[in-house]
Amino acid sequence: MTDPHPRDLKVLLKLARSAARKSYSPYSGFKVGAALRLASGEIVTGTNVENVSYGLTICAERAALGTAISRFGPKVRVTAAAIVNLNNAASPPCGACRQVLAEFIEPDAPVAFPARDGIRVMPFSEVLPLAFEMQLKKKTTGGSRSE
Ligand code: THU
Repeated sequence: MTDPHPRDLKVLLKLARSAARKSYSPYSGFKVGAALRLASGEIVTGTNVENVSYGLTICAERAALGTAISRFGPKVRVTAAAIVNLNNAASPPCGACRQVLAEFIEPDAPVAFPARDGIRVMPFSEVLPLAFEMQLKKKTTGGSRSE
């Protein structure tokens, strides 16, 4: 049988677990950790940080991305990601985190997350097939003539 989780993802899953242990989640008790492999080879992690004003909570994935850009600058590219929780729950990354990840992650980057049947690995392009983007159409040049 082939190993469904290549070694790199195993490393990321382990580091994501360590990050999840630092979770600040007094309101939900849901402890999430994320680990991102960057194109440079570096790994960054993040955990969820909750707030009494629930909506201000920062998810683990976005915390990790914030760390990545803060440490390595705006050109970081994510080549693999692992998300875990300590609650033994099936839990793919939330929609907001998928959209924020879309900004920095390669479409073919493997994303590992806990599913009902164990850890699932999918390319990011399948995790978020149609990310919001803003490709403004170029205006046709009509000179100074008014139509
Ligand atoms: N959470 C994450 O950290 N990542 C996700 O993708 C979804 C949810 C956190 C936010 C909150 O602290 C807790 O999980 C329960 O929603």
